[in-house]
Amino acid sequence: MKTIIKKVDQTFIDENIIKEAGDIIKAGGLVAFPTETVYGLGADALNTKAAKKIYEAKGRPSDNPLIVHIAKLEDLETIAKDIPKTAYLLAEKFWPGPLTMILNKTNNVPLGTTGGLETVAIRMPSNKIATQLINASGGFIAAPSANTSGRPSPTLAAHVEEDLKGTIDMIIDGGMVDIGVESSIIDLTVTPPMVLRPGAITKTMMEAVIGEVSEDVTLMKDDDKHRPKAPGMKYRHYAPKAELILVEGEMETVIKNINVLSKEAVKEGKKVGVIATGESRDRYEVGEVKSIGTRAKEETIAHHLYQILREFDDDKVDIIYSEAFETKGIGKAIMNRLLKAAGHHILKV
Ligand code: TXA
Ligand code: MG
Repeated sequence: MKTIIKKVDQTFIDENIIKEAGDIIKAGGLVAFPTETVYGLGADALNTKAAKKIYEAKGRPSDNPLIVHIAKLEDLETIAKDIPKTAYLLAEKFWPGPLTMILNKTNNVPLGTTGGLETVAIRMPSNKIATQLINASGGFIAAPSANTSGRPSPTLAAHVEEDLKGTIDMIIDGGMVDIGVESSIIDLTVTPPMVLRPGAITKTMMEAVIGEVSEDVTLMKDDDKHRPKAPGMKYRHYAPKAELILVEGEMETVIKNINVLSKEAVKEGKKVGVIATGESRDRYEVGEVKSIGTRAKEETIAHHLYQILREFDDDKVDIIYSEAFETKGIGKAIMNRLLKAAGHHILKV
């Protein structure tokens, strides 16, 4: 299949390109597009066959449900029922934006979109290309992250090309995404509501709007006894090809330990990568050292996380040592993804 690739400027959106993409989705095709979190792989959410194509293109297990993206609040009631007041309160505060809500689905949403579940994940993105595309596609786009299953999520159109060129109809290149990690997910079908995936909208931010919010116990630990509540969270995804080890402790001790470990690995003939920060990058003595961002502004770390993991794939490193981060604010989403990418391999020093 030939994949059409079109650049779109977010500040001056070419309506013809949006129409072309919308027509492809209406006809049951697949279009990758930018959102403020990561690139999504979009299909008509109300068309089972189209949703099925997403699973095939990504190589995604079919029990892993998709997020339905909407552009207007009134469309919520077409796909969700028994909507609690908390959903409207959260929508008012955080939509459009990086928050996904789990609600009971209506019969309009096929089970092929929800992985067989009677609930549906819904989000209203803020990226203008995304919202215009949703409107041009009939209002409901099912979109997982536009990576092949298991790889880090795409934050650039080039990442989508790497994974999916030749297997999908179109890629809209809207430049680098803003946030860099996927949306926060909150399940509103349980009491109290539960965070299933941390993101830029934190539990504390949601609690300020709707009161008590709980958190899936599996988010930050490797726990054989509990299955993650979001089906997709059980897979070792976001993962680079190399072995990834997180090193946690006092900054000076971490730097010292990573230097020792890296030198040992190099001696064993391994190609080593180090995930450092602007504050520490000059302190590492061997290996391919990359700064992921600055600790003074953790948003910069989220922004570069997946790109750096992909770069290490290109560099063909065998082992990556990464600094660990505080789990406050967006740091929780960063550590949740890093822990998954590392298969929970964390060294406390
Ligand atoms: O930021 C994002 O959310 C991006 C962009 C493209 O919008 N999308 C995204 O989709 O991250 P995906 O498919 O990579 O992740 C969706 C997650 C999975 O972990 C899935 O299991 C969970 O949402 N999920 C979807 N529907 C669910 C449901 N009904 N109940 C529980 N978890 C659900
Ligand atoms: Mg994903």
